[in-house]
Amino acid sequence: MGIEIIGIGSYVPEKILTNAELEKMVDTSDEWITTRTGIKERRIAKDTESTSDLAVNASKKAIKKANITPDEIDAIIVGTITPDMSFPSTACFVQKGIGAKNATAFDISAACSGFIYGVSIAREFLRSGIFKTILVIGAETLSKITDWEDRNTCVLFGDGAGAVILRKTDSQSDILSTYLGTDGTLGDLLYMPGGGSRNPASQKTIKERLHYVRMEGNKLFKIAVKKMTTAAQKAIEIAGIKCEDIKLIIPHQANIRIVEGVANQLKLPSEKVFLNIQKYGNTSAATTPIALDEAISQGKLKKGDIVVLVAFGGGLTWGATVIRL
Ligand code: UT7
Repeated sequence: MGIEIIGIGSYVPEKILTNAELEKMVDTSDEWITTRTGIKERRIAKDTESTSDLAVNASKKAIKKANITPDEIDAIIVGTITPDMSFPSTACFVQKGIGAKNATAFDISAACSGFIYGVSIAREFLRSGIFKTILVIGAETLSKITDWEDRNTCVLFGDGAGAVILRKTDSQSDILSTYLGTDGTLGDLLYMPGGGSRNPASQKTIKERLHYVRMEGNKLFKIAVKKMTTAAQKAIEIAGIKCEDIKLIIPHQANIRIVEGVANQLKLPSEKVFLNIQKYGNTSAATTPIALDEAISQGKLKKGDIVVLVAFGGGLTWGATVIRL
């Protein structure tokens, strides 16, 4: 018995923020952003729009494609670092929003690797037979934790959500492997210091701008290339396939130069590497499911193809999965 993606959907907010607009907000240029990151524009959620709102929109599309009813969903797993609230979990809001009354729901916090961590957990639930149908989502409103006065970070991030519905199948489809890794000793390279139990919200934390993402981009860059390459290699090895068997690799969209570095290391030609960073920037846990949805709808992937998803992010965390569609 394998596991099949029976439905997939994604959603990004309507508002587009271009590099030209950012030029008016901080000391930056379209030329710098484009050459250093590959990003041309990103989507920004409305003040009234939360992460679960984006997740619900993506999930409804996935449910429609899967041709199931929400009450058939046994579990909802949301990868996010921008939850609606500390609690209830964003997954609980999604359960309510889509009316999946039979689903158990929880979030996982693994930053940009959150969707792949979610797929990995879902795979084990399905293999063990505990659940039959699982909705896995990567959703973020990073714009809400971005310091719009910090040019080092504000040009990078965007908002969006992607969702898949996984179900056991007797077809050839399967999640052939997953591979996950973590290094908590490097957590201070990418984090948000305020709002948790270490620095609860106060006038002081607001004054010190602790409720925004802090990042040491340059140090992360090198680790990202290394860890994403290793994660992809491990997942490919565990799956028992060769690089030539891969139709497409969908890497986390943090920086076009990171993606190129990973592709070079894996000796994959550019036509086998999916990129949409130019349109959305880095949407953390949402990049890989949004990209997978786009790759399928653009006809770059079809039933039976092998796709590799690989991500890296705060924690530090990393992970990869090999899927035969
Ligand atoms: O999502 C998963 C985790 N995230 C990542 O893996 C992100 C990894 N890091 C990166 O993508 C890149 O390091 C960045 C895009 C964040 C930065 O690119 P970089 O090539 O590493 O630049 P840098 O940080 O070394 O900065 C180079 C210069 C600096 O100026 P000086 O000190 O050389 O005068 C920066 O101040 O670029 C300057 N700079 C900017 N200039 C114009 C930094 N941000 C900007 C900006 N516009 N927005």
